[in-house]
Amino acid sequence: MSAADDGFEALKARYLAYVDTFRGPDGRLGEMLELKLAHTMRVVDNATRIADGEGFDSERRSATIAAALLHDTGRYEQLVKYDTFNDADSIDHAALSHDIVARLGWVVGRPDAEAVLAAVLYHNRKEVPEGLDPLTEAASHAVRDADKLDIFRVLEERVATTDWRRDAKAFWNLKAGLPPSPAVVAAIRGGRSVDYSEIRTLSDFVLIQVGWMICGLHYRVSRRLCAERGHLAFRRRFLDEIGGGAEAEELCDRAERLALSV
Ligand SMILES: [Fe+2]
Repeated sequence: MSAADDGFEALKARYLAYVDTFRGPDGRLGEMLELKLAHTMRVVDNATRIADGEGFDSERRSATIAAALLHDTGRYEQLVKYDTFNDADSIDHAALSHDIVARLGWVVGRPDAEAVLAAVLYHNRKEVPEGLDPLTEAASHAVRDADKLDIFRVLEERVATTDWRRDAKAFWNLKAGLPPSPAVVAAIRGGRSVDYSEIRTLSDFVLIQVGWMICGLHYRVSRRLCAERGHLAFRRRFLDEIGGGAEAEELCDRAERLALSV
């Protein structure tokens, strides 16, 4: 698809011009925001792969990719205002993203404006609301999958680039060497999404992502990308190293059986 035919390049130019307003006099964004921008572009890439792999028509494809680009728009303001990416300590960054995109009129005139805004708003909810129109539902699920796929990469990069064994701050002071919390294991076993407030140990944090592999990726293409990229194998090894124990192993086995059926 040529980018010009659905307005994506124009939308991207507006987005990047907005991001530029957060650059310092030296032209730099700062490390944390640079990482968010890189994350966003990878989510766009994942969303494009999902849309194409799932055979989305041009309307769904366009809404999905636009929402992927805009899903974390609020992260820049969130960090500047609150000095954190932790929503619980600041603001719901998806709602903030939705409000900024709406206020700046970036999707005005698009026939899919409501679907794009809704997919941005729903991207971090525990569940996608029921009863959505098909376009909003497809774009919402695709953006959530695309986001999770990149969050898998972010964890792996963090393990590779930090001194996490000695530096507890690398994983927000979550304790390594402890098994996952019973509440987290029970939620994943029961196919329920886990609330971040239930995270007690580093094993919990990693296991939540294994839970996404069991029932958190909506599209077959997303599950295939996850398998191809070796994200489960990485978590199995890492959980073993940080004391995930038998329960973590059992849940990794369950995720592996599902991956084999993709
Ligand atoms: Fe987000």
